[in-house]
Amino acid sequence: MSEIVRIENLHKSFDKLDVLKGIDLSVSAGETIVLLGSSGSGKSTMLRCVNFMEVPSDGRIYLHGDLIGSEQNGRMNYRESELCTLRTRIGMVFQHFNLFPHMTVEQNVMEGQLTVLKRSQTEARDKARAQLERVGLADKALEYPARLSGGQKQRVAIARALAMDPDVMLFDEVTSALDPELVGEVLKTMRQLAEEGMTMLVVTHELGFAYHVANRVLFLSDGAILEQGEPQQVLKAPKTKRMREFLDGHSLFKLPD
Ligand SMILES: Nc1ncnc2c1ncn2[C@@H]1O[C@H](COP(=O)(O)OP(=O)(O)O)[C@@H](O)[C@H]1O
Ligand SMILES: [Mg+2]
Repeated sequence: MSEIVRIENLHKSFDKLDVLKGIDLSVSAGETIVLLGSSGSGKSTMLRCVNFMEVPSDGRIYLHGDLIGSEQNGRMNYRESELCTLRTRIGMVFQHFNLFPHMTVEQNVMEGQLTVLKRSQTEARDKARAQLERVGLADKALEYPARLSGGQKQRVAIARALAMDPDVMLFDEVTSALDPELVGEVLKTMRQLAEEGMTMLVVTHELGFAYHVANRVLFLSDGAILEQGEPQQVLKAPKTKRMREFLDGHSLFKLPD
């Protein structure tokens, strides 16, 4: 299967703090990978390096086999124009949805298409409508965000990212700030995307989602991948004490027998 993203020996430090200590990962087309780990283990930093919101301290990232940046004297150089183009190909959804309050739902989903991709109004509107339909919010196109629930806002944020036709979608704890009764509708939307064949890297504490939807689960500990494999194996038969302790801390979730 074709490789969408390859990460080689990714390091990221902030001053003297080494946050990522050599991550290697290959993501194939259509794969859903769930990234688990305790708070502070480096999950967000890893996603932010993949779309270059943070510039890696060392290592290489490839998209569709193309190396991002260029190498000079053993160091990677990145041009801002290249990174801007790259970011349009990688969709990201965060815990906080940051919709524009003065724009309708539809205008929110059109905005990036108009300003970044320079699509026409008609094309952007058609695409926005199609993506809102996809996340089950076609009937909310002309509402303002203030009239939506947290779960609906998060689904608009997902539609906004999808409207850019990304090669891969990154999700960073997108259900963590939601009231418990709203989590399910967002997870259902993400599950549907996975089933449609979207390539996804998902940071979440929802072990049920990891178990039922992920093709692969990674457990990040102290800036390195400590365990990885199929969800059934990693979640049911963790090899390390760290991973067992992490799972014990999520004991509310009962794995199927
Ligand atoms: N911009 C930054 N400047 C300094 N330290 C940072 C920055 N971003 C993250 N960190 C630190 O990196 C570590 C990992 O953070 P993060 O990637 O957010 O972890 P996680 O998402 O797994 O909770 C933490 O110790 C955090 O304080
Ligand atoms: Mg985080």
